[in-house]
Amino acid sequence: MKLSKGGSEVKLEDSKKIEDGKNDILLEVKGLKKYFTKSSGLIKKRVDYIKAVDDVSFHIRRGETLGLVGESGCGKSTLGRTVMRLYQPTEGQILYRGTDIAGFDKKQLMPYRKKIQMIFQDPYASLNARMTVADIIGEPLDIHKISTGKERQERIYALLDAVGLGKDHASRYPHEFSGGQRQRIGIARALAVDPEFIVCDEPISALDVSIQAQVINMLDDFQQERQLTYLFIAHDLSMVKHISNRVGVMYLGNLVEVTESNELYRSPLHPYTQALLSAIPVPDPAAAEQARRIALEGDVPSPLNPHSGCKFRTRCRFATERCREELPELKDTGGGHYVACHLVDQ
Ligand SMILES: Nc1ncnc2c1ncn2[C@@H]1O[C@H](COP(=O)(O)OP(=O)(O)OP(=O)(O)O)[C@@H](O)[C@H]1O
Ligand code: SF4
Ligand SMILES: [Mg+2]
Repeated sequence: MKLSKGGSEVKLEDSKKIEDGKNDILLEVKGLKKYFTKSSGLIKKRVDYIKAVDDVSFHIRRGETLGLVGESGCGKSTLGRTVMRLYQPTEGQILYRGTDIAGFDKKQLMPYRKKIQMIFQDPYASLNARMTVADIIGEPLDIHKISTGKERQERIYALLDAVGLGKDHASRYPHEFSGGQRQRIGIARALAVDPEFIVCDEPISALDVSIQAQVINMLDDFQQERQLTYLFIAHDLSMVKHISNRVGVMYLGNLVEVTESNELYRSPLHPYTQALLSAIPVPDPAAAEQARRIALEGDVPSPLNPHSGCKFRTRCRFATERCREELPELKDTGGGHYVACHLVDQ
């Protein structure tokens, strides 16, 4: 038994509650900000802002995968968590099927919790070590009152089967599995409520290279079978190349480039994207000789009170006076290739 069949009832019931959008855009994010606060000073309290996500706008079409890349600390996870409303946004809109859920309370968010799921980087940390696999996968079914008793059990078995595990795994605990198997359990849990949209936060980064392709293929298959939409977060561009229709590059809380996947690899326009791409090892020695490596020195600066102008200017080899003063806007250079750089904006 495949879960997708059993899950169709849930879908019908939900689609009444969630208004259908007017076009094929499932998610549209406008001017999204997520600032964390940090207090310092004993007597004179000072509050500083960690601008983890700082005015980000993008959209994802139904059935599409938008890859999201950038170095550690760029704000990828914060963006993913804010979009699915695990965090309360500081500002901006999150339009899901045309409805702005940015200000929704717990009760209003309930139907969306079912539609939007997450797969985490570290499957061990995200699975409760004291729960059996059956209870881990069954928990979202209980929370959303989807099924009980025999039906619940059948559904758990079907999910295990769908991710390549067996009934006999249901009574075991997370520590009894390999990293790849644990990620399969995480995927089964995310699929349990028959979602439409999944935020995949570095789901393969912690896995052996040999297992990474298996997990990617599995996510790809589920996307086809269940018409899923993914926001796929990864550290480096090589990981998102095959799974993404479009890719967004993030730097210090801002999206600096968004375009169709092939276009990004063929003609990256932002200096940061160019540097990230040049860092990917090229297997062919002749091609490697030709590909000029662009050094990306230092780390991403702190998002605590970031500097003026372009956030990338402290590491950019093309930076000018204008870059110091003016923050470049993300603009369409033609055909949906968006870039935020004064060089491209001339
Ligand atoms: N709950 C929080 N409270 C305060 N600061 C936070 C919190 N979560 C994230 N940050 C800060 O926000 C910035 C962005 O963090 P985030 O985890 O979103 O980056 P990331 O791109 O996902 O990095 P990584 O690739 O390492 O997972 C970092 O400077 C981080 O320290
Ligand atoms: S705006 Fe200036 S500093 Fe920023 S990426 Fe473009 S050239 Fe570099
Ligand atoms: Mg992260």
